[in-house]
Amino acid sequence: MSSPIRVLITGAAGQIGYSLIPLVASGQVFGADQPVIIHLLDIEFMAGVLNGVVMEINDCAYPLVKSIVATTNEAEGFKDIDAAFLVGSMPRREGMERKDLLAANVKIFKSQGKALADHSNPNVKVLVVGNPANTNALIAAKYAAPKIPITSFTAMTRLDQNRAANQFAAKHGAAVKEVSRVIIWGNHSSTQFPDVSNALLRGEKAPFDGHDDAFIQLIQKRGAAVIAARKLSSAMSAAKAAADHMHDWWNGTTEWVSMGVVSDGNKYNAPEGVIFSFPVTIDSKTKEWKIVDDVPLDDVAKQRLKLTGDELLEERTEALAATN
Ligand code: NAD
Ligand code: LMR
Repeated sequence: MSSPIRVLITGAAGQIGYSLIPLVASGQVFGADQPVIIHLLDIEFMAGVLNGVVMEINDCAYPLVKSIVATTNEAEGFKDIDAAFLVGSMPRREGMERKDLLAANVKIFKSQGKALADHSNPNVKVLVVGNPANTNALIAAKYAAPKIPITSFTAMTRLDQNRAANQFAAKHGAAVKEVSRVIIWGNHSSTQFPDVSNALLRGEKAPFDGHDDAFIQLIQKRGAAVIAARKLSSAMSAAKAAADHMHDWWNGTTEWVSMGVVSDGNKYNAPEGVIFSFPVTIDSKTKEWKIVDDVPLDDVAKQRLKLTGDELLEERTEALAATN
């Protein structure tokens, strides 16, 4: 058995936390022989609920869980962590766009960026789930610099990828595992571009007869549809996607996966200095992501990438104003 790693979940008393903790504790993310010390952070108001969550983790008797650090103190929560799921923040309600959460949530990520720099393992891998995820990741990275490189910050678009892969598989009468290279470009928002023009079906190029607006909108608005139906934002599927994302980051990929990562301005005309979702591959030894090169894009796709990139620039301006 390896020595334990420290894994932080923020917002641990919330909905996503409740679905994510079992995936981490049971070994589905970091491996069946990787012990974990689970750090759980929430706000003071939720201390009682957090205590109940700890009781349940203990009652699960997970063999891989070496200990639990449950706290409402940021310094303690971020101390020496190797991986972080930054979930804790306000979810949107019906009728809101994710960027409407910016003013409320971005300050959390400023504070947690500083806490990462001050207290965490410098090699920590940070996945931002809390919305607006791309811009929150950018703010956390800004305040964690220079101790923690911006390449250690990623934002979650895996839920969008899973949604798109599932819909695409159903359309083609295939199993979801037979589908690959479904890409999410840009922002985790209603401007994101779910792109199946390069998708593979059973390892072969899937038939493609133009971008399907109905499909694109279904994926762009899926989060809102879940909120309308559940009166709560997605949690089970969000936790599964967070686990998939971190699993692939930690263990390496065999296929393209979509992640929000920093754009250096040189790939696919995505603006420089925003966290933009690209198809990436991850090296299992170094745990470093690399943007897939030379993905063909038609004019429709290029326009859609421009639109979602412009939105990320607007969000960045707003977020910087809110945090300065
Ligand atoms: P929730 O309200 O059920 O839980 C959020 C928890 O975060 C609460 O317990 C709250 O007390 C806690 N919290 C608030 N501020 C905190 C802070 N400063 N430090 C630590 N904890 C804090 O919400 P949820 O349904 O779990 O959603 C959490 C976030 O994830 C929302 O912003 C939601 O929009 C987002 N989300 C993102 C995706 C994605 O695909 N990227 C998918 C689903 C949800
Ligand atoms: C989702 O995509 O389900 C989440 O980002 C929650 C939301 O606000 O849509």
